[in-house]
Amino acid sequence: MEKKETLVLNKSNSVSYKVRIRRGNSETSWYDDFEVPSEAGQSILGVLQYIYENLDASLAFSGSCRLGLCSSCLVRVNGKVVHACTTLIKSDIVVEPYKQSCVARDLIVTQNTDTYRDEK
Ligand code: FES
Repeated sequence: MEKKETLVLNKSNSVSYKVRIRRGNSETSWYDDFEVPSEAGQSILGVLQYIYENLDASLAFSGSCRLGLCSSCLVRVNGKVVHACTTLIKSDIVVEPYKQSCVARDLIVTQNTDTYRDEK
């Protein structure tokens, strides 16, 4: 199935992306939708930070080095496990925890990131 991309012009005529994020934990989860303005070079981690600072301060996610080295920012974007800090947003996205079975809260997974390749 081909992924439909949607670019939305907001009132100031700037482009924005729709971002759907899986919330909750391993037992109970749901999806929340956000609209995020596009900015050149904006990473998925930058998008999550934007949502946290401007739209929903209850969003839980992690990130540290911002260089693709520590793997603390691993998430699943449109079904693929990626480093949120080094992956740029180019279209509407669905963001989920990289491992569904060990979710502490929202995008934070309690299991060691060394095993993430098992769930690709
Ligand atoms: S924040 Fe360290 S790999 Fe992304």
